[in-house]
Amino acid sequence: MAERLDAFLAHRGFGTRSQVRDLVRRGAVTLDGVICRDNTIHLHGEKITVHGDVVERGVESATLIVHKPLGLSCSHDSQEAPLLEELYPPTLIHLNLESAGRLDRDTSGLIIVSSDGELIHALTNPRRQIFKRYRIAYSGKLSHHAIARAARGIRLANDPRPTLPARLEIHAPGEDGLGRATLHLAEGRNHQVRHMIAALGGAVVTLHRDRIGALELPLDCPAGCAREITDSERDLLFSDPADVDALNEAEAAAAAAAEEVAAAAAVPPMPAAEPRAERHLSRRMRLKMASEPKAPDPGFPAKR
Ligand code: URA
Repeated sequence: MAERLDAFLAHRGFGTRSQVRDLVRRGAVTLDGVICRDNTIHLHGEKITVHGDVVERGVESATLIVHKPLGLSCSHDSQEAPLLEELYPPTLIHLNLESAGRLDRDTSGLIIVSSDGELIHALTNPRRQIFKRYRIAYSGKLSHHAIARAARGIRLANDPRPTLPARLEIHAPGEDGLGRATLHLAEGRNHQVRHMIAALGGAVVTLHRDRIGALELPLDCPAGCAREITDSERDLLFSDPADVDALNEAEAAAAAAAEEVAAAAAVPPMPAAEPRAERHLSRRMRLKMASEPKAPDPGFPAKR
């Protein structure tokens, strides 16, 4: 969509909206060589200068994989600093980057950030059934029916709609004595994991999201990393993890089978050639010959 002149300049670091409007009104800005004093004009690829310097447009869109550390807010409100957006590469600050859903300040893990509204909508729309995986450490005890209740849907306080079917796995407690569970959700209501665990009898102590669709938090993206997503990672967001697991298993099995075939086909080391005369002797005959003293080689004196 065409960007307004004042938004364009503000996104490229020329000041706040009111500061750049002032700049434009004072005649510091040209479009295709002509002074423009109208802040509301929408841009369509014109060459822009401020005080005679050309303003680079930069990339037009971007999607980032972000590994949110604890302590950052997903809000854009500077009052809530430190903000997730402080992790974004400075070359992208002119883009209107939005996160696909939010993680609480005290939740860590995978979050997708993009200038592509359609992508964000697709990732957050519960109808698309993109499951997000949350790793949970909790105190207290989950009810006996917790798994069935999560699968059926739970009525949360102050929310008339039951949650959508979710998959809950309960694991052995950790060494810290806290319970461990994994929850797979296709929707993202406010504090949903914390509210669901509370409704099931526990209290979330730590929360970490490590998968969206079939995309797992990549190993090359430690906490605090924000980098552009690759095409194959983008595809994984919309893939079913079960399909990807099955594919990986099939590929691993095919690779192992290929290795076996290659090993079997490899030429075995040649056995040492037997002296021509002995080749067709029976085993008994060979043993007999081996036990007999050998005649010294006529070319060498016998060893003592
Ligand atoms: N559910 C929560 O309770 N918090 C998050 O950050 C994400 C999901």
